[in-house]
Amino acid sequence: MATDSWALAVDEQESTTKTIGNLRIMEAGDANSRQIDDDGDKSDEEEKEDRATQSLLNKLIRSNVVNNTNQVEVLQRDPNSPLYSVKTFEELRLKPQLLKGVYEMGFNRPSKIQENALPMMLAEPPQNLIAQSQSGTGKTAAFVLAMLSHVDPSLKWPQCLCISPTYELALQTGKVIEQMGKFYPEVKLAYAVRGHKMERGIKIKEQIVIGTPGTVLDWCIKLKLIDPKKIKVFVLDEADVMIATQGHQDQSIRIQRMLPKGCQMLLFSATFEDSVWKFAERVVPDPNIIKLKREEETLDTIKQYYVLCNSKEDKFNALCNIYGAITIAQAMIFCHTRKTANWLAGQLSKEGHQVALLSGEMAVEQRAAVIERFRDGKEKVLITTNVCARGIDVEQVSVVINFDLPLDKDGNPDNETYLHRIGRTGRFGKRGLAVNMVDSQRSMEILKTYERHFNKKIARLDTHDLDEIEKIAN
Ligand SMILES: Nc1ncnc2c1ncn2[C@@H]1O[C@H](COP(=O)(O)OP(=O)(O)OP(=O)(O)O)[C@@H](O)[C@H]1O
Ligand SMILES: [Mg+2]
Repeated sequence: MATDSWALAVDEQESTTKTIGNLRIMEAGDANSRQIDDDGDKSDEEEKEDRATQSLLNKLIRSNVVNNTNQVEVLQRDPNSPLYSVKTFEELRLKPQLLKGVYEMGFNRPSKIQENALPMMLAEPPQNLIAQSQSGTGKTAAFVLAMLSHVDPSLKWPQCLCISPTYELALQTGKVIEQMGKFYPEVKLAYAVRGHKMERGIKIKEQIVIGTPGTVLDWCIKLKLIDPKKIKVFVLDEADVMIATQGHQDQSIRIQRMLPKGCQMLLFSATFEDSVWKFAERVVPDPNIIKLKREEETLDTIKQYYVLCNSKEDKFNALCNIYGAITIAQAMIFCHTRKTANWLAGQLSKEGHQVALLSGEMAVEQRAAVIERFRDGKEKVLITTNVCARGIDVEQVSVVINFDLPLDKDGNPDNETYLHRIGRTGRFGKRGLAVNMVDSQRSMEILKTYERHFNKKIARLDTHDLDEIEKIAN
């Protein structure tokens, strides 16, 4: 029965979680097993919380720095001072213990954003910085190196304070600090996160504190564990995620107000929407600004088709016909609801496909494990809904199927999501294939808006005609 095979598939997937070794997040948190409903009736709050999950997921599955060939945009506070960038870590004259830590992490040279950000952050006198670049370009590593360079290990009190929007993201960043500081054991790190019971009034000795805004505020004000006047470097990481998390903005500003004049302020974000910008302006005085645009996704190398169907069964048959006619290395299939995704996964497994399913009800580590297995080619088909795949980078997919066309939460065309889904294929000059399943007058209209918006023809494909399908593969 479908349900049985489905249950088996879930068991199998859940067992893969074990492959993600040594994640401390598993021990302490319960927030990451939070249920997310992606059946289209999510509240705004849930939508926003997803940004933290996505950010975490990207970190869990990422094995390398994301290369970006776009130009870096640098706006200096003092336009007369020479622009200084480095191509090697040696040029930064890091402490030998830190250089060793950097190399041990497998970093051979600074990433694009690090080339410019590191000299600014390490300059004397300290300069404030707002840096924006897409996820995975090396922002976290950059400010961690800056914090580790600025602390004086002989002083036994907090000197660097770093704030992250969620518990899980704080632990992730903490892990980077620990790794990079591995050969610098005199520098100690404290985690100001929920569940960390502390005694009131006994000042902590760790030089670096990483935490979430609420707990950090408590440690400064209520418990008096940190003297904010002694902080030299203040870092706000994931500013975009932070802003999306209710209440964090005010708390961060309250913390920032307690810091001494001359404390270095560093703010990092993967996106640069107006809200981030406004927040940044309130928090960071006289900043230098570094921006690195996301690499443009284009549809130039992607062949797009649509198939007319009457029902989801009909769509499934069309899908089987496509699979019967052409060899598909790896495909990603997007459904509108979790229910359809579940159903489709069951049907495809019955047909003997190795299917991975990414669903909002899975804990974040399970999702990371599923994506990782798919990336490693252990499964050839990944079925997912919009909510849990947005922002996730899996690059080597050759075919994308929109089992349901992407829609925004009001049911209107969503160009950005369409581009992002389809853009997964056809990267790096490879040719990609995208098939859209159209099942109503309305979805035909939506398809037409995508066609118009991107000014790219989406041709009809008759999936009953095997010869025709074979042709699209060539
Ligand atoms: N110079 C480097 N050389 C090689 N790998 C690097 C370098 N800098 C960072 N990395 C690696 O690249 C990955 C992404 O880096 P990092 O987490 O710093 O990016 P980020 O810009 O902070 O991303 P996010 O916006 O998702 O937080 C990590 O696995 C990190 O270890
Ligand atoms: Mg980061």
